[in-house]
Amino acid sequence: MSDVVFDKVKEVLEEVETAQPQTTEEVEQFRIRFLGSKNIIKPLFGEIRNVPNDQKKAYGQYVNSVKQAAEAKYTELKANAEAAADAASAQDIDLTAPADPIGIGSRHPVSITMNRMIDIFTRIGFTVAEDREIEDDWHNFTAMNTPEDHPARDMQDTFYLRNSTEMLLRTHTSSVQSRVMKRQQPPIRIIAPGRVYRNETISARSHCQFHQVEGLYVDENVSFADLKQTLLYFAKEMYGPETKIRLRPSFFPFTEPSAEMDVYMGTDDEKSYRLTKGTGWLEVLGCGMVDPAVLDNCGIDSEKYSGFAFGIGIERSAMQFYDISDIRWLFENDVRFLQQFASAW
Ligand code: DAH
Repeated sequence: MSDVVFDKVKEVLEEVETAQPQTTEEVEQFRIRFLGSKNIIKPLFGEIRNVPNDQKKAYGQYVNSVKQAAEAKYTELKANAEAAADAASAQDIDLTAPADPIGIGSRHPVSITMNRMIDIFTRIGFTVAEDREIEDDWHNFTAMNTPEDHPARDMQDTFYLRNSTEMLLRTHTSSVQSRVMKRQQPPIRIIAPGRVYRNETISARSHCQFHQVEGLYVDENVSFADLKQTLLYFAKEMYGPETKIRLRPSFFPFTEPSAEMDVYMGTDDEKSYRLTKGTGWLEVLGCGMVDPAVLDNCGIDSEKYSGFAFGIGIERSAMQFYDISDIRWLFENDVRFLQQFASAW
């Protein structure tokens, strides 16, 4: 009798061993037959009562081994079936199909204009110097010969960091002049593009943040003629080969003498008339010969060296080029506005 019972277990074990389910569906049938709630191994455990006492232990272990064999095989089959299914679905991907288009952004009009300016100056030997936007009072004002009681230092004009009378958001890129001169002796020929901040009421014409390109040239025998020639070259490259410029005397604490440069736009069309307030001349930048006090403040011998400097506002040029009537558009990040400016720069 016990032989018959053992034979039955052997039969089930053989069935487990020889089964070759392939598809996920067949594997599931295997699971139901050998491991499901009504599986055919379960009743074999019940048969133990027909086994003589001295063989019960061996019988129990035998049936258990069948159960374990079924479990091990199922785990393996399932993994194989899943891998096969994955491979099959991978073949469904059409590798020759065109990819989804990648949305390419466009450059910001301020970046385009700034990059044009950088390009113009790097062609004549200026290198780009960048520095911090959070600056200290010394580099932004003191080194640049701006006296303690100058109105620009006022809280109304300058953003100071909380609880500080020392640290501020730079009000002009002229601060990079002092940074560069402190660490480098002449010849110095740099431009410093970047963002600046002023505590101004935001309107169509002015904003509390904007951009400038600063220029600085220090060497032996640098003269006002060098400054004028450099700026004329810039104006022609930027506004066209026929461009006329004029230099008007002005005042900045860090240059002596100082000037403002205007570019002639004419008054023929309505846009130029409006832009130049009927004069035909558009103010583009401030400039001058570096005040010897600035050189000395920064550790450069003003007896030996002289230099010129200039600072160009970028937003105004960008607005003029692209006919943008309100500066706030430049800082709102409205994609409908921004995507209009495709450019190589
Ligand atoms: N820093 C001045 C401003 O923000 C612009 C400027 C004027 C820069 C004359 C210069 C300069 O380097 O020489 O208005």
